[in-house]
Amino acid sequence: MAENLIDGFARHTNSADLIEVYARPLTIGTTGKLLGVSEDHGTELLALCESLTTPGDADEQVQQRRRLRQLLHKTASADTHEGGLLYDILLPTHSDGALSPDEATDLVLAVYAGGRTPVALLASAFLVLLGDRAALTELREDPDIWRTAPDELLRFIPVGLSGGFSRLAASDTSVGGCPVRSGDAVLPATISANFDEDVFGRDAGRLNLRRTDNPHLAFGFGVHRCPGAPISRILVEVAIKAILEKIPNIGLSGSSQVVWHSGLTIRALAELPVEW
Ligand code: HEM
Repeated sequence: MAENLIDGFARHTNSADLIEVYARPLTIGTTGKLLGVSEDHGTELLALCESLTTPGDADEQVQQRRRLRQLLHKTASADTHEGGLLYDILLPTHSDGALSPDEATDLVLAVYAGGRTPVALLASAFLVLLGDRAALTELREDPDIWRTAPDELLRFIPVGLSGGFSRLAASDTSVGGCPVRSGDAVLPATISANFDEDVFGRDAGRLNLRRTDNPHLAFGFGVHRCPGAPISRILVEVAIKAILEKIPNIGLSGSSQVVWHSGLTIRALAELPVEW
């Protein structure tokens, strides 16, 4: 999928927005495969989920949620369907009735909303790597580095703004010496924890693609730890490897400024102009 996408855009031009032509369609395609959603429906599903997870007009969001539910059923019932998570959970003949249509819609929303994160991570990873000649050389010359590089990129590049969802304390306790009473909400600063010198050593603030001891919290922790972690690690490796192999002379577009999205709950580039 990654190589096909690159062949598709690199043949016709020598500059592009890497998010639009690569990070986004690759993530849509990967999440779509997981769910059993065609590329066309995947693009519309992601757009709806993006809109539903962005602050906006409440009435409009009710309509969009309705549209999302219809689209999910249409997708799951399509004759051409090849199976997948969506098919299993949405069609009564294929599910044990464990999920109501609303719950199934929420599940898909969570999976697609999760799908925004790899787009953001990939874009930021390319921004960091294309500006770091030494890191690029390491990635190109040592295949063993891929055992550690994806996790180091996940540690080093913050995608969430705070790091995770808040937790409610089940009993009186203390966190880092700060008393927490039963029922208190705690927002863990997991991004800051990823740069903790007591855990990662004195080079915690540096990208070290060979870092082996890397207990980062990019995917959160505990029962709500990100279920998309394994697929995201693979996605990072496949996506970066394919670009470096197929477009060895790729670089950031010299003339452009870095523009970030605002108003999202994740830290995401609005575009990533590159040239080769
Ligand atoms: C770079 C990729 C990703 C990062 C950095 C990331 C990060 C996170 C984080 C920090 C959490 C909160 C965990 C916590 O509070 O302990 C989370 C939850 C979640 N993520 Fe991801 N995620 C990524 C990719 C994905 C993908 C690809 C999917 C779907 C296929 C996904 C689906 C979810 C879901 C459903 C939850 C909620 C889990 C729950 O509440 O039990 N994520 N993710």
